[in-house]
Amino acid sequence: MATVWTLASTKGGCGKTTLTAIIAGEIVRNGGTVVLIDTDKNTPLMRWAAKNRLPDAVTVLDATDKSGRELTDALQRLKDSRSFVLIDTEGTRNMLTGLAVQQSSVVVIPMKWSELDVAEALKIQDFVAVASQARGRPIPSVIVPSQVDAVIESKAQRAVKKALADTGATWIDPPVLTKSPYVAMFTEGRLLHDLDTTTNSQVLQNAKDNAHAVVKAIGKAAVEFAHASATG
Ligand SMILES: Nc1ncnc2c1ncn2[C@@H]1O[C@H](COP(=O)(O)OP(=O)(O)OP(=O)(O)O)[C@@H](O)[C@H]1O
Ligand SMILES: [Mg+2]
Repeated sequence: MATVWTLASTKGGCGKTTLTAIIAGEIVRNGGTVVLIDTDKNTPLMRWAAKNRLPDAVTVLDATDKSGRELTDALQRLKDSRSFVLIDTEGTRNMLTGLAVQQSSVVVIPMKWSELDVAEALKIQDFVAVASQARGRPIPSVIVPSQVDAVIESKAQRAVKKALADTGATWIDPPVLTKSPYVAMFTEGRLLHDLDTTTNSQVLQNAKDNAHAVVKAIGKAAVEFAHASATG
């Protein structure tokens, strides 16, 4: 059975598409194959793939049809495969995001440390909880701080963190750091590990280390969530 992770937040620009590409890179690095489903009408993943530099282990499908038919058909076709499926969604609340969430093993919610992003992340998390209830099976949702400066933590950022903690929400650590290779993936049309070697090697290595730690932490949080739901 395919493992389906959906990247969702109604907040535009919080890092969904970037994190989709980061996770895809980690899956391929571990010897896996991954199907990326692009449900965003701006088709950022389709444009990435159109550069024809992604390895064979990555397939990108266009499922932007608003009716949800393409998405449902794609998931149905992949149901019995052993692939990892990543669904990238648009930064608005729409039916495709709802459909994707309902059929997910895990919902990944990227979020910048800003009041606006946090509010939208909590809304999506509530939506996932409702979808879980409707499905009669828990759907883990994992909040992933994104575009975080490794060095400076502002006073405003600390205040937002405290406010989120006060709601009882949890998030993974480390965050997705702000790194130029994450932008270069899209300009070059490649996965992180296949970036041109002319990129500063230390900068690239730091991004690879961050990507590895982030994806590991998401997997761990999802397992803990499932365990807590089963026992609690
Ligand atoms: N970790 C990061 N380091 C550097 N730049 C980043 C990082 N994450 C995202 N960005 C940049 O921020 C912008 C928004 O990121 P991205 O497109 O991944 O967000 P999104 O949530 O998919 O947006 P949308 O809601 O429009 O689909 C892009 O220009 C991207 O290159
Ligand atoms: Mg996007």
